[in-house]
Amino acid sequence: MEIIVNDNVEEMGRAAARVVARTLNCKPNAVLGLATGSTPLTLYQELVRLHNEEGLDFSQVTTFNLDEYVGLTRKDAQSYHYFMHENLFKHINIATQNIYIPSGTTDNYEAFCKWYEQRIVECGGIDLQILGIGSDGHIAFNEPSSSLGSRTRIKTLARQTIEDNARFFDSAEAVPVYAITMGVGTILEARQIMLLANGRNKAKAVAEAIEGPVTSMITASALQLHSDVLYVIDRESARELKMLDYYEWVQTKMPDAP
Ligand code: F6R
Repeated sequence: MEIIVNDNVEEMGRAAARVVARTLNCKPNAVLGLATGSTPLTLYQELVRLHNEEGLDFSQVTTFNLDEYVGLTRKDAQSYHYFMHENLFKHINIATQNIYIPSGTTDNYEAFCKWYEQRIVECGGIDLQILGIGSDGHIAFNEPSSSLGSRTRIKTLARQTIEDNARFFDSAEAVPVYAITMGVGTILEARQIMLLANGRNKAKAVAEAIEGPVTSMITASALQLHSDVLYVIDRESARELKMLDYYEWVQTKMPDAP
């Protein structure tokens, strides 16, 4: 586990983009797991800049998104399909056939979820999974009490998540109640995981995820079981970490480690 604490979200986006760029430099046909929401926006902006100004190449990259709202079509401005195209895909040279996002409008969710899991395996597994974290400690839409072995499936969103995400919709009533989401088990199979978090409202969830017990009540705590997790967070979301001094000490000492 490694933690990089940043002073602001722009710096956070740049730090996270360096990790993605390193992955693509080592493996140009890497498989990336992607998240939506406010948190990864500065990362996506920086990836677009690196593509435009420094030639970061996505032509062989494959991506799998974590989740999608059930009932929203690809054209719906609140859908994660729309979000990804607007904020990343339309600005980089990724091949359309290499983009996978769960369908919010399939007529057979069970079959779709199985197929999605199978496609991840057929593409060689996820090399780098990017995650945000909900204020209730969720990763993807694995709400408190989700099985830590769960796979891609439909989940009922928690009231807290509906309230948190109402800011993207006209009202809380307009937020879909169901989402299709990768499971915690699916996420844990990624080779490397990078969780991003910013803002005071994430501080409790971040502390519980990193320093609390592993529990299905904070699904991000399952990341403690993974051997290669990097947290790229800002100072506000790091505020409740008991060992913050130590993590910062490690950050300064790490470059000289033998
Ligand atoms: C989005 C996702 C969610 C978000 C989380 C935080 O694809 O999987 O887990 O990462 O809800 O959302 P923001 O970043 O909007 O605070």
